[in-house]
Amino acid sequence: MVQYDLVKIGIKPQKRMEELPAIVRLRNEKRKVDKDYFFHKEAASNYAVKNHIYSKEAYRKSYADYRYAWNNINSNISANPLCIDIEVASYCDLGCPFCYRQQVVTPDKLISDELAVSVVQQAIELNVESIKFNWRGEPLLNPRLEKYIEQAKKGGTIETLINTNALSLTTERSENLIKAGLDTLIYSFDGGSKETYEKNRPGRFKNNKFEDIIENIRKFNEVKKALNSPFPFTRIQMILTEETRKELDDFISIFSNIVDEVSVKQYTERGGNISVLSKKERELLQNYCDINNLDINTVEFMVTEGKVYVSKSRIPCKQPFQRLLVTYEGRVGMCCYDWGATYPVGVINKEQAIKAIKDYQQTNENINVKKKGFEMMKPIINQDFKALENLQSDQKLIDIWNGSKISDVRKKQIELRHEEISICKNCKFKETYKWAVLS
Ligand SMILES: C[S@@+](CC[C@H](N)C(=O)[O-])C[C@H]1O[C@@H](n2cnc3c(N)ncnc32)[C@H](O)[C@@H]1O
Ligand code: SF4
Repeated sequence: MVQYDLVKIGIKPQKRMEELPAIVRLRNEKRKVDKDYFFHKEAASNYAVKNHIYSKEAYRKSYADYRYAWNNINSNISANPLCIDIEVASYCDLGCPFCYRQQVVTPDKLISDELAVSVVQQAIELNVESIKFNWRGEPLLNPRLEKYIEQAKKGGTIETLINTNALSLTTERSENLIKAGLDTLIYSFDGGSKETYEKNRPGRFKNNKFEDIIENIRKFNEVKKALNSPFPFTRIQMILTEETRKELDDFISIFSNIVDEVSVKQYTERGGNISVLSKKERELLQNYCDINNLDINTVEFMVTEGKVYVSKSRIPCKQPFQRLLVTYEGRVGMCCYDWGATYPVGVINKEQAIKAIKDYQQTNENINVKKKGFEMMKPIINQDFKALENLQSDQKLIDIWNGSKISDVRKKQIELRHEEISICKNCKFKETYKWAVLS
């Protein structure tokens, strides 16, 4: 595989979003624990150490090496992916208006047991350091989730993760996740008030209640204490929009005692058209656009606590160097911003993936007839099913990782030829832009 050294070719490693001023302020003042420090400090309690898969020191070292590699892809591109994201459920029980699921047809499906077990096994054999068990849906909707987590941990995976809306986080589920060895649990909770939260995270089949989710999160923390388990590390994350930014202090005070870290995340446009800027910030951006003859609707911008940043140029994306993502039907993507692997770099089981086309068509039909739970979704299928035909059948993860399609993306990214990759051209991932502050 071609190895790229970004530093040698003059590209400095990019600062992570979290290192930008607003997030640092939030983290330094309000967060309780640094995640990397937590893993170091609590290593003895990790499933992998308690079950003698690693010694405490070996686990600490492996975790530190993996985090270093993740943050510094500049020096040595890993021979294997650092993370495999497995969509154990594309099904979701919420209909968040900002989420891609509302804009583009996504079937309500679970991954087949056979495919999930095989992907986890391949990841273990490749010494992939981390496995995230979700992508487009809600992982707790797969009742076999704990089985896959345990399989990964028994096989030596350093970090298992999920993002969850916490709607199905019962006490029993909490116990099972902790016992299976889940390492990191990231809650998504968008709002500091009942009104904002319930608007941002409505239930698809029944009402989703602010108080119920806080209670599930509080109870999870109690179960951790009862089981005397520091793991999983828990983080709660709120997307920054014009509305949620006003509720930041309430959000922090609700959760700071029941999770390990309170955090915020940039909103990225996935078709929800949610306002992010305050009136004053919008005026500032409009002024910049007027002077530079740019369209405010297409200019790349982001905001962190009153400071507006704009971008006119790109930097290489780290994702094709870090991870592979597997959809429930076995397509493989190279970036979490390519919702649903519309630019597949491989397919694990071509026959299964082709059969799944009918899931997309059925979902489209459900949306068209406004079936219960589908009312808020749009009937747009953006899958290029023909792209599947051109892929080899039954590929292994390692062949996909070293394959020509992803290698071509990496080469073009390094050469800043984003325009030549359809999926990268209009990508909204903020870490692929160079930012300058507006004042
Ligand atoms: C698609 S969800 C899947 C996991 C789970 N259902 C959840 O809500 O956490 C994964 C993550 O994407 C985030 N997300 C969804 N739409 C987003 C957007 N427009 N901008 C930024 N993050 C978004 C969610 O908040 C969540 O943290
Ligand atoms: S809960 Fe997660 S996957 Fe479901 S609609 Fe909301 S953000 Fe999307």
